[in-house]
Amino acid sequence: MENLQFGVDYYPEHWDEERWSIDLSMMKEMGITVVRLAEFSWSALEPAEGAFSFEWLAKVLDLCAAFDLKVVLGTPTAAPPAWVIEKMPDIQPMASDGARRYFGGRHHDCQSHPGYREQIKQYVTAFASHFGAHPQVIGWQVDNELGNSHGDLCYCSYCEAAFRQWLEGKYGTIEAVNQNWGTTFWSQDYQSFTQIHAPKNTASGQNPSRALDWQLFHSDLINEFHSFQAQIIREHSPNRFITHNLMGFSNVVNYHDLAKQLEFVSHDQYLEGYWRNYEKDKVEENYGTKRAFAAAELDFIRSIKKAGFWIMEQQSSISGWDILGRTPKPGEISLWSVQSVAHGADTIVYFRWRSCKMGTEQYWHGILPHSGIPGRSYFEIKTLIQKIKPLMKEVKGILPKPKVAIVHSYAQHYAMQIQPHHPDLNYLDHLYTYYRELYQRNIAVDFVQELEDWSPYQLVIAPLQYLMSPEQAQHYTNFVEKGGHLVVTMRTGVKERNNLCLIDQALPGDLSAVFGVEVHEYDCLRDVDVQVQLEGEIFTGSKWADILTPTSAEVIATYASEFYAKEAAITVHSYGKGKAYYVGTELDRELMHRFMNQLADVLPETLVTPPGVEIISRENEQVSYYFVMNHQNKDQAITIPEDWEAYYPEQDRNMISANQYQVYKKMK
Ligand code: GLA
Ligand code: ZN
Repeated sequence: MENLQFGVDYYPEHWDEERWSIDLSMMKEMGITVVRLAEFSWSALEPAEGAFSFEWLAKVLDLCAAFDLKVVLGTPTAAPPAWVIEKMPDIQPMASDGARRYFGGRHHDCQSHPGYREQIKQYVTAFASHFGAHPQVIGWQVDNELGNSHGDLCYCSYCEAAFRQWLEGKYGTIEAVNQNWGTTFWSQDYQSFTQIHAPKNTASGQNPSRALDWQLFHSDLINEFHSFQAQIIREHSPNRFITHNLMGFSNVVNYHDLAKQLEFVSHDQYLEGYWRNYEKDKVEENYGTKRAFAAAELDFIRSIKKAGFWIMEQQSSISGWDILGRTPKPGEISLWSVQSVAHGADTIVYFRWRSCKMGTEQYWHGILPHSGIPGRSYFEIKTLIQKIKPLMKEVKGILPKPKVAIVHSYAQHYAMQIQPHHPDLNYLDHLYTYYRELYQRNIAVDFVQELEDWSPYQLVIAPLQYLMSPEQAQHYTNFVEKGGHLVVTMRTGVKERNNLCLIDQALPGDLSAVFGVEVHEYDCLRDVDVQVQLEGEIFTGSKWADILTPTSAEVIATYASEFYAKEAAITVHSYGKGKAYYVGTELDRELMHRFMNQLADVLPETLVTPPGVEIISRENEQVSYYFVMNHQNKDQAITIPEDWEAYYPEQDRNMISANQYQVYKKMK
């Protein structure tokens, strides 16, 4: 399995059989060695119940053998065919308003439905036993982008029943549910599990603890849905990998749990997808951080297993459904691919081979346009493959080695979604304010979980640590005590993990000692930003202000407007061998930059580059590979250190062209 650096997502069922060998030979000719097949092909493979028609796919696999292409097979459970719906209309998911979401698109399935499970079992068993041992088949993907299911979770009676069972497993008794959900409020006490319903739209308000459990339940449900299929596959297709195409920071499914079932994770990446906010992009571009969020997602994906990963769908041309995004500029597709590799991707699979005649995704263009005539995407990707494949083989197993980590938590994300406090306060956006500053400094970042071993890191940034258990507080305290530098931000230690407020102690509760601060008052900055003074200069904080009362901490910055002007906004406290920073508000870019300067002692040394020029390295004890990427649409001046050896002979060490990349190597 050494030659798997590039692949395509291919849908032979969209094309006449005569075309297949032309397509596959063109793939081979351009250096593609992997194809992903069949993840939406249920109706073509089982046109009526039990009437499997696997012959056409068998032909495709034989052709793949002829062209030396390895295959990843998908199970098609994100697109149950019309006959399944006819048989069981109630697999169509119910949204929180109680209305069904009907057949005609995809993802029209409930993951709890026992009859649907049975149908899937029949299909996957037949499919995996038919193709599982085929020599071309190297791996599997179950369903597609799990968690991207219906925009809303499913609230049907089967999901409700599964929720009750999950709650019984978690809490044991109904009394414990009542206690953990605080049901005395508004007479919400339950006498039995049967009284518990899915949190459909209510007449007024929602119980935040129930809402949190509903999210956690759904993640578990989807993971169990995956495991149910994965078990069948493993039984019938031994020695093959199972991976999944994750969607960056999308949070419906806890990817750490999912990853335990996978040999490696994959990620889908569409940097000019139709959903982009071009106004926001313009601002980011002006600061040179247009691709910082993409970098963050790649770092997150790598961090899940702290290992190399695949891109299972990388944008290959202009894309959209009803509305389209910008067409990639010359060089951009290669640059996005290289950025993925730089952050740890081992394989890049392009979505998709060819733009399709029909369906919702007619305008989601592939490497080939509708005409089938190779154009810009084809030639750019072909050149890229030839250029970068040897390098990808060389760096396999070598990864970025960050000394700085950002804490990411599904539960915190859910809790902040349930109660965002401020209309614009968004968990990911808040994390991103820290990531972006590190990105601009070319500082590599891992994302870590709350209770993970943080000892590889000098600096851990833990934004919005809203839910706090005693165990977690102890973990944070130990990290600082042993010499770690820890940053937390507003709303830390406010709640128990069940989403009930912590009481009988000043905020941030168990963490007051390590941070040397207490928070007795706070402000929601609905109609204003707050001024923050640091080193005599005025900057801006927004959305929220924790008004800090230092007990033993030193003040780094104070508020400079509102009635709490002169009160502390950012503090630092030496504790044990480390330092603990509390940041009371969301910092603007300039203030973030100045705050980060305060952490200089624990930030790794990196090269300064012009805005939009990113550098990240994959390294081990012997060697570093530096990837230099210009995400700006203009040529920029750079200064490459003399001891970095150019990987490609034509690289200009003083300049990098618009949307281009360079690679350097340094032996240690
Ligand atoms: C997702 C899906 C693909 C395809 C693309 C384009 O990432 O996984 O099946 O739909 O988007 O829309
Ligand atoms: Zn359901």
